[in-house]
Amino acid sequence: MKQKNKPIYDLDGKVVFITGAAGGIGAAVARALHAAGARLVLTDTNPAQMEQLAAGFDADRTLALTLDVTDAAATRAVVARAVERFGRIDIAFANAGISWSNGPQTLLSCDEPEFERIVEVNLLGVWRTIKAALPEVLRNQGQIVVTSSIYAFMNGMCNAPYATSKAGIEMLARSLRAELGSTGASASVLYPGWVETAIAKMAFGGNKVATKMVRVAYPVSLRQPIPPETVAAAMIDGLRTRRARIIVPGRWTPVSWLRGIVSIVTDRRIETQPKLQALMRDIERAPK
Ligand SMILES: NC(=O)c1ccc[n+]([C@@H]2O[C@H](COP(=O)([O-])OP(=O)(O)OC[C@H]3O[C@@H](n4cnc5c(N)ncnc54)[C@H](O)[C@@H]3O)[C@@H](O)[C@H]2O)c1
Repeated sequence: MKQKNKPIYDLDGKVVFITGAAGGIGAAVARALHAAGARLVLTDTNPAQMEQLAAGFDADRTLALTLDVTDAAATRAVVARAVERFGRIDIAFANAGISWSNGPQTLLSCDEPEFERIVEVNLLGVWRTIKAALPEVLRNQGQIVVTSSIYAFMNGMCNAPYATSKAGIEMLARSLRAELGSTGASASVLYPGWVETAIAKMAFGGNKVATKMVRVAYPVSLRQPIPPETVAAAMIDGLRTRRARIIVPGRWTPVSWLRGIVSIVTDRRIETQPKLQALMRDIERAPK
């Protein structure tokens, strides 16, 4: 929803710290921000892909650093390096995220270390990014944006650590937005639906069970993946208007608005849908 009478937040010259910048959404947002005149602090665990991205940008407004967001001390060090280089950070985009490495699992079938690693990156990594960048963002009346997902409000069956962390960071950013209310700084939640990136490949042909599950559980109108550039365009618009919720594609907006009732209906359907239940038992029976 557009917020009326609010001045447009000009992105030209702003310093934006991005985590997971080498991935599909991070890179598309970085390109759009670069085109809007922003200065970029690109971070990722994948230095080769990040260097490739950075090579397409003006060197004098780009800093690329390797960072694992689970490392709080390293995240603080990146913030310090960014301030040393550019004098400030205006926006922190806590975007890094992971999912199952080897196909969907239930809570029964998954490995404890993998469950906990997903939560560590997707929830605690976002928290550590926010905590490290917040003093700068506050000082510059800037913005924090977290990449949540439609999984913040849709059932997380067979994707529980991912959905749990996406619901968690939604509340983290909502709480932060409330706490920042009188400061001039703000926090926002980005909720992408499925996007054509590496992380979503599993659900669109990369893994047989995951692909089948998405087909059975979601109507075709909701499950069409979108290009990362569409997410980037929504992000730019959302940053310029400091939108609290950036939901993309827009077809998920009514689902989010009606989430209370939608959850009751869809949770019941999943619980009683023979095909979905059979797929879950297949996952649990599959040899590891
Ligand atoms: N693609 C989708 O359908 C979709 C939908 C909703 C939300 N999201 C979220 O969007 C964000 C970006 O994902 P994407 O779609 O671009 O996928 P992606 O896999 O292309 O990008 C994720 C990036 O995060 C990096 N990363 C992984 N672990 C990291 C860590 N510990 N520290 C720092 N960086 C790390 C990866 O190297 C990769 O470059 C994620 O948080 C993801 O959960 C994606």
